[in-house]
Amino acid sequence: TGKKVVIGGNWKCNGTKESVKELIETLNSAGDFPSNAEVVVAPTALHLGMAVDGLRKDISVSVQNLWKEPKAGAWTGELTVDLIKDFGINWAILGHSERRAYCGETPEIVGTKVKIALEAGMKVMACIGEQLSDREADKTMDVCKEQLDPIIAAVPSGAMDRVVIAYEPVWAIGTGVTATPEQAQETHEQIRAYLKTKIGEEAAQGVRIIYGGSVKGANCQELIKKADIDGFLVGGASLKPEFKDIIACSS
Ligand code: G3H
Repeated sequence: TGKKVVIGGNWKCNGTKESVKELIETLNSAGDFPSNAEVVVAPTALHLGMAVDGLRKDISVSVQNLWKEPKAGAWTGELTVDLIKDFGINWAILGHSERRAYCGETPEIVGTKVKIALEAGMKVMACIGEQLSDREADKTMDVCKEQLDPIIAAVPSGAMDRVVIAYEPVWAIGTGVTATPEQAQETHEQIRAYLKTKIGEEAAQGVRIIYGGSVKGANCQELIKKADIDGFLVGGASLKPEFKDIIACSS
């Protein structure tokens, strides 16, 4: 389909000045990336500047969140899109399950943030995914649809090509339990089928649906072979030199 494979590294709330410097050096000296890889890393807000200034230019930098109003102002502790864009940052991870679970981000708030980012011309990795109890109750797609609806509704006309859907089953995040390639493919296929009903066949085929949840150098090869897996959002392994191997698997 000619779609680029998205390899995202979500550093979450990790890193010291020293470890971030080392990681930047490791990535910078990793040699050529596959030509169809789109590599994006999301440092903490404190480390964004180091990443923007220090990383090779074929690695994009992303925020892990942004504020639900677009303009700078009296929002203590927050980052608005105009500040983010002024820093040269063009990607946002939005609706991560940790923000949904611990920061009260409802599907509607996530939709609002997606809209703000896209209206500002940014690219978005919008995260969705079910809890273990949802999967056990056969409600995986119900939950995904509930999370997808406000995201899809938030996309301005013509901006769908700047939206990446990150499917991250919550039970697979940081647990070491990866969805099997078959489980991930099954849900990705269902997500794409649902997108078709909402945005049409062609647009849905063009959307990158990436998988997140205990992706490692050792399991990325099998996952990426699946038809509807268009890349990864990597947490723990994105802090390690192993991230290079995950980037390499997109070739
Ligand atoms: O955003 C990344 C995901 O939450 C996956 O994290 O690779 O540590 O399981 P993990």
